[in-house]
Amino acid sequence: MMGTALVTGCAGFIGSHLCERLLDEGERVIGVDVFTANYPRWIKQRNLAAVAGRPGFTLLEQSLLEADLRPLLQQVDVVYHQAALPGVRTSWGQSFGDYVSHNILATQRLLEAAREVPVRRLVCASSSSVYGGMTGPVGEDGPLRPISPYGVTKLSAEQLCQLYALQFGLSVVCLRYFTVFGPRQRPDMAIHRFIRAVLHRQPLTVYGDGEQTRDFTLIHDAVTANLLAAQAPGARGVYNIGYGGSCFPKDVRALIRLGQEHGLVLDLLQKVEQVNQTQVEWCMSKFAGRLGGLSGRRIALLGLTFKPHTDDIREAPSLRVIQMLLQEGALVSAFDPKGATHVQSLYPAVRCAATPYEAAAGADAVLLLTEWPQIIGLDWQALRQVVQGNVLLDARNALQPEAIRRAGFQYMGVGRGVAEDGGGGMGHERRGALCRPGNPATAFLVFAAKDTAACGKPAGA
Ligand SMILES: NC(=O)c1ccc[n+]([C@@H]2O[C@H](COP(=O)([O-])OP(=O)(O)OC[C@H]3O[C@@H](n4cnc5c(N)ncnc54)[C@H](O)[C@@H]3O)[C@@H](O)[C@H]2O)c1
Repeated sequence: MMGTALVTGCAGFIGSHLCERLLDEGERVIGVDVFTANYPRWIKQRNLAAVAGRPGFTLLEQSLLEADLRPLLQQVDVVYHQAALPGVRTSWGQSFGDYVSHNILATQRLLEAAREVPVRRLVCASSSSVYGGMTGPVGEDGPLRPISPYGVTKLSAEQLCQLYALQFGLSVVCLRYFTVFGPRQRPDMAIHRFIRAVLHRQPLTVYGDGEQTRDFTLIHDAVTANLLAAQAPGARGVYNIGYGGSCFPKDVRALIRLGQEHGLVLDLLQKVEQVNQTQVEWCMSKFAGRLGGLSGRRIALLGLTFKPHTDDIREAPSLRVIQMLLQEGALVSAFDPKGATHVQSLYPAVRCAATPYEAAAGADAVLLLTEWPQIIGLDWQALRQVVQGNVLLDARNALQPEAIRRAGFQYMGVGRGVAEDGGGGMGHERRGALCRPGNPATAFLVFAAKDTAACGKPAGA
């Protein structure tokens, strides 16, 4: 047994998955939930089915607004605070009082108790709703302008967390989830509603609440982010928890097709698909700007597959990148341990090399697209000797910027702050890509776990 965790909102979508994972990892879990009426009780009970009765799990059916929290906190070392009243549209009007109670007052009660009975770490679920109606990728230091009462309550809770951290030295990490999806997703959420509507051949209601410009995050990644946030010694402040879209697009397209087969037009998903495409274009336009245009430039691509350890290039952003580069008249060379043959057959104009050094020889710029270990672990100084230009775009945020700069490259990351980007890069505009579990956000926390001086600075305390 590693320790005891308190999971608030344990019967909810995210809370129930978190409990399951913590128990799998050998933790004891005390779960608190009051079974609010935002969706039927039987669904929440079903959410808990996987943990109910497991040794090490205790359920307390209580409200954080009333429970005696001090004795509870005395038994735990980490608090995962997931309890809240979610939902954007329902937060207007009469129900706002409930949002204030469950999202702000409940958090404040928990923080008060945690300050008196210090816990090692409190991880608090926040939301991308704190950003409001922004378009394009957003970094943690993006403007905080909620456009719903729900967003206001989540921002207030987050700011209370920062305040207690500052005033009382409480160790708090807030995770801004970007639309979490997966098994047990809340019945009011878009993907759940779409699938249900398609399966029951019902018409779809699509609300223009701005959520279509948001990222989507697999539940297991959101859970991993929680565990890392609890463990990483240097984690503090706020982190975006999103995905960024390099695999999910195929699911979005599958769902669009399924809808079409049933005579339904899924506008919202089509917008998501557009956003996924825009992200690559936005990234490439910054890259082209740094090079003063792409025509006649020699660009070396390191990695082609959509993720390491596969030869699957079907959903790989590299295909769109190659198309754009060739259209602009760039000369493209590439290295990938497994994906080169497929790419070569699709794009004979791409020169596929047997080693990264061969691919990079004479290149004006290098673009890292897949975080294969053999690419991450390259001797970057040796690589710098063979390239002609010195611009390196790390589209996966997989490298340590300082080490790359020491090797003599101009490092461009995606979504890193000014300091991380060396200025003038994509982070310079403060429009960083979303932190992706399995990639940036989690990587960010993993870095922090490995190295107490957290890599990149989260916004806030
Ligand atoms: N699901 C998402 O995509 C998403 C996105 C952004 C943020 N969030 C945040 O993540 C957290 C979990 O969301 P979810 O989707 O699992 O919601 P959910 O409604 O499924 O789970 C929340 C749970 O908290 C419980 N709860 C509410 N108030 C309580 C109180 N005062 N005392 C005890 N229990 C209480 C509810 O009964 C519910 O079971 C919330 O804080 C939400 O704001 C979720």
